[in-house]
Amino acid sequence: MEPPIALWALSLSLLPLTEALGGRGIRQFQQMADMGLLPDGTPMGVGPEIKTSLKLAAAPNKTKKIVPEYVELPLDNFAKNKDYSYYGTFNNRYWVAEAAYKPGGPVFLYDVGEADAEPGALNRLQNETSFFKQLVDKYNGIGIPVDLHTPPEAFRWLTTEQSLADVDRFAWQFKRKNINYTLTPDKAPWIFVGGSYPAMRAAFMRDKYPDTIFAGYASSAPTQAQNDMSVYFEPVWRGMNEYGWGNCTRDITAAVKYMDKVMEKPAAAAKLKEQFLGLGAANNSNPTFGDALTTPFFLWQAYGIEGGSLGLRNFCDWLSTDPATNKTSGAEGWAVRKGANFTVNRWATYPKFVTMVNEYLETDCSGSMNMTGNCNLNLPFSDPDMVSWTWQYCTQWGFLQSANLGPRQLVSKYNSLEHQKDICHRQFPTAPKPLFPEWPRVDRTNEVFGGWDLRPSNVYWSGGEFDPWRTLSPLSAEPWTPHPRAFTDPPRCGEEQDEDEIFGYVMKGAQHCYDFRTTFAGGEVSRKYFTDALDKWLKCFKPKRGGSRPHGRNSM
Ligand SMILES: *[C@@H]1O[C@H](CO)[C@@H](O)[C@H](O)[C@H]1NC(C)=O
Ligand SMILES: *[C@@H]1O[C@H](CO)[C@@H](O)[C@H](O)[C@H]1NC(C)=O
Ligand SMILES: *[C@@H]1O[C@H](CO)[C@@H](O)[C@H](O)[C@H]1NC(C)=O
Ligand SMILES: *[C@@H]1O[C@H](CO)[C@@H](O)[C@H](O)[C@H]1NC(C)=O
Ligand SMILES: *[C@@H]1O[C@H](CO)[C@@H](O)[C@H](O)[C@H]1NC(C)=O
Ligand SMILES: *[C@@H]1O[C@H](CO)[C@@H](O)[C@H](O)[C@H]1NC(C)=O
Ligand SMILES: *[C@@H]1O[C@H](CO)[C@@H](O)[C@H](O)[C@H]1NC(C)=O
Ligand SMILES: *[C@@H]1O[C@H](CO)[C@@H](O)[C@H](O)[C@H]1NC(C)=O
Repeated sequence: MEPPIALWALSLSLLPLTEALGGRGIRQFQQMADMGLLPDGTPMGVGPEIKTSLKLAAAPNKTKKIVPEYVELPLDNFAKNKDYSYYGTFNNRYWVAEAAYKPGGPVFLYDVGEADAEPGALNRLQNETSFFKQLVDKYNGIGIPVDLHTPPEAFRWLTTEQSLADVDRFAWQFKRKNINYTLTPDKAPWIFVGGSYPAMRAAFMRDKYPDTIFAGYASSAPTQAQNDMSVYFEPVWRGMNEYGWGNCTRDITAAVKYMDKVMEKPAAAAKLKEQFLGLGAANNSNPTFGDALTTPFFLWQAYGIEGGSLGLRNFCDWLSTDPATNKTSGAEGWAVRKGANFTVNRWATYPKFVTMVNEYLETDCSGSMNMTGNCNLNLPFSDPDMVSWTWQYCTQWGFLQSANLGPRQLVSKYNSLEHQKDICHRQFPTAPKPLFPEWPRVDRTNEVFGGWDLRPSNVYWSGGEFDPWRTLSPLSAEPWTPHPRAFTDPPRCGEEQDEDEIFGYVMKGAQHCYDFRTTFAGGEVSRKYFTDALDKWLKCFKPKRGGSRPHGRNSM
């Protein structure tokens, strides 16, 4: 079934909900939201001023064609004997916007991580409404979106360490035919801008390659690797309650716990699966049916309660309306009065539920009892970006989004940590150990990259109040996390913070990477903290005399 998405091949940079949610590129929703669009391609509810500017920007400027360029990078940056091309090379794609450049201006690297940057990258280069373009213009800089696209076949080299070395190598060979100025990091300040996984990389680059990356903007950076990320769903619950949908969360929790009980009996479990997804669904395992029940939360990180026809507002309106009277529940929800089975039946008849499952999990379930659908919920991901991201989280980062058991539980208990680990091995059944470990090696990852406590100088951190990824970032508010004091006066250039302080800011009423979208009013405050700091930091950049690539990092 074709998904109702107009702009399909958008850049997929941002962290998706990693669990069974992948399929054909969930991450695009985040980028569509950044561009002011709903998942179906229509504009989000924004003010008239922004609407006008979106309209203006929507007419592509044909006089300004930016074409993709490629740099040849080795698959293995750490090859023994420095024989970098021994294992082969790959062509890494990037774009360059140099129209605003004046000699001495900075180079902004906008990283979209292991994802496809087109056409989102072009949007960021050309649209006046894009923060990235605004940065380039304000500082007379050069803008370079990059998608570090290590081919999925090269999993062996698909590590965060390698991808940082790629950036370093890229920066030190960078030059432009039309610009009579040395643009390598010894002569021009390189600023790394990223949201989500690229935000982690912004901080890591400044930490590990300070003579390459001069400053960084890390929006929503979960730098702490952790296997159990059941906490993902806590900000969803909190945010829904804060925004006035507490009745919906109460009904969902009641329904999910009720279904968990029903699924303890195989015959009843089979019936339940058919009730939700139609003939052909009965034989799915409880954990994969649990994945199906998680789909209504897919759009939260990109849209909050909104998100158009597949968003939570629609779902909640359905659950909270009694079809017999058309009345909506009070604050306490229906389940407490009518019983959880009332909500289960509402959920099962929600017209968009089967659509969501089919779209996100790449199935073709019928949703009806008189037609057998193709409804296997246990398929590996097919989207290449999702495949390579699965490799990365299953080897290094964890981020396994199992159920948040307890009073705020939103998803089935059968979505267990064990099930999340099984998804890793389902995707790569033949990958040998130790290359592909039983569980992601998160302890090693935190040792290498610094986890919560990473505080390189000249880095600004931002977060969203109800962003599920904030939970594993240094700006986390979870009770078991470090809670450094966040401040917003720019620190001095080159000054590192202690682990109990952080130059950063949490946006109220925001989810994932909301400061990169100019349609979110609260984002401007955050962006200004960064640009105020950058104004200050750039003054202390001194081009190095007779500079050259730092010792020991040879070019190919
Ligand atoms: C298109 O881009 C060119 C070159 O940057 C610029 O001079 C021109 O004003 C732009 N046209 C429009 C309609 O924005
Ligand atoms: C600019 O943004 C609008 C709205 O987000 C989009 O429709 C349009 O394609 C973008 N223009 C370019 C040149 O990417
Ligand atoms: C490049 O700039 C240098 C110094 O500013 C100048 O001497 C040289 O002639 C320029 N070269 C070209 C090709 O413009
Ligand atoms: C479900 O599994 C049972 C037993 O394993 C099998 O007999 C039946 O054909 C399966 N049904 C479907 C629709 O796959
Ligand atoms: C509820 O509202 C729908 C659409 O607004 C309407 O078609 C239906 O008849 C109403 N049902 C009752 C019981 O009022
Ligand atoms: C209950 O839920 C509905 C729809 O989900 C929502 O519009 C309404 O504001 C909620 N009411 C209360 C009192 O929480
Ligand atoms: C729940 O509702 C369904 C559909 O109306 C019904 O078949 C089932 O018997 C109910 N379960 C209980 C325990 O009441
Ligand atoms: C299939 O089932 C639906 C209800 O689920 C019913 O409205 C429809 O008439 C049925 N179609 C056939 C061909 O039996």
